Amino acid sequence: MNSTDRTAPAAGCGDRGPGKEGFRFRAGRIDLLPPYLYAELDRLEAETRARGIDIISFGVGDPDLPTPPHIVDSICAAAQDPANHRYPTYDGLLDFRRAVADWYQQRFGVGLDPEHEVLTLIGAKEGIGHLLWAVVEPGDLVLVPDPAYPVYHSQVVLAGATPVPVPLRAEHDFLADLDSLDSGIADRARLIVLNYPNNPTGASASLDFFHRVLDFALRHQCLLVNDCVYSELYLDGNPPPSLLAVDGAKEAAVELHSLSKTYNMTGWRLGFAVGNREILNSLLSVKKNCDSGAPQAIQRGGITALRGPQGCVEELRATYRRRRDLAVQAFSRAGWSITPSPATFYLWAEVPPGYDSSTWAGWLLERTGIVVTPGQGFGEYGEGYVRLALTLGEERIAEAAERVARAGSFAAHGRPNIR
Ligand SMILES: Cc1ncc(COP(=O)(O)O)c(C=O)c1O
Repeated sequence: MNSTDRTAPAAGCGDRGPGKEGFRFRAGRIDLLPPYLYAELDRLEAETRARGIDIISFGVGDPDLPTPPHIVDSICAAAQDPANHRYPTYDGLLDFRRAVADWYQQRFGVGLDPEHEVLTLIGAKEGIGHLLWAVVEPGDLVLVPDPAYPVYHSQVVLAGATPVPVPLRAEHDFLADLDSLDSGIADRARLIVLNYPNNPTGASASLDFFHRVLDFALRHQCLLVNDCVYSELYLDGNPPPSLLAVDGAKEAAVELHSLSKTYNMTGWRLGFAVGNREILNSLLSVKKNCDSGAPQAIQRGGITALRGPQGCVEELRATYRRRRDLAVQAFSRAGWSITPSPATFYLWAEVPPGYDSSTWAGWLLERTGIVVTPGQGFGEYGEGYVRLALTLGEERIAEAAERVARAGSFAAHGRPNIR
């Protein structure tokens, strides 16, 4: 068949319709997406590495440590069982959802009905995307934190809705400043997205803050979602609360969780959504048409993770705490002052005077081979900061700080830009 044959309508298929000129390989909505932040970082890193430079990457937040062996063993055993070789159920194994409900009760003091208030996800990222399809209409407004995990913005856009940035400012401890929005916007918004503990700022939210946001949401008839994939990575001994611990939260709110960060399971893809049953039901309707559920062997591993000994999580917190303290001290000795984060494995570091987030990331990459993420990639209110993911060992962190110290005065050099 030649190319003319391929573009011609097959006999009997009729007309190709008015105005249709050949194939369209890209829907218009794709062009509304910003370049995927980490893809750009990966490209830059590869380019610098190709120049023979030993890169120290604080870029992507993918835990460097392995999944605890008791969880891997349990997944391997479950993989041998033919009962786990067929399509999973869409909403997940009831045993897994029961383990989630028990964990929630123990950890947050929140009771959940495992049959109707817990839904298994193939990671929180999947949940974010499908949740937006489930509850917003094209043209709706969605309040999205800024700076934020870029997927919120992209998924709102893919759902045909409009993201409205809610600033997270240092002077408000990076808590979403909903009062700064004019009330017309709040009345038109369908959904508020929160993320505490927060990527990229490392901020944690109190129950009192959640109270105020829930009040706001109910007053303006907005649904509420808190993405709390970092809930267990608290580094100063204060376990963050659940939004669902606020009285009445289940009227309008859900939380998204993941085993990715708590148990170093990013590669296995397992998470869950909990809370308002109607929202979860809508989410399930979308999922039934988009995916066929999380692999059961992985869910069995999830049960082992949630019901098993939690010492591995305590050790993980201790590791990130040591890395955080080392980085803050060592970079500060090198002349770059960084405020420690109370939670997550991120440092949200102000750029030195005279730089913006891109020129500072560019200076670090060119002069020291260090990769950090420019704050402007997380939204306009991220300008003035870069994010460091502490997903690398202490030796490399110390080496990075030494390189910065050796590179000398920041101001004395040129300012390459990686934009
Ligand atoms: C705030 C936030 N939510 C969700 C995710 C993705 O989680 P999962 O691996 O469960 O899809 C990430 C990953 O970095 C994240 O930072």
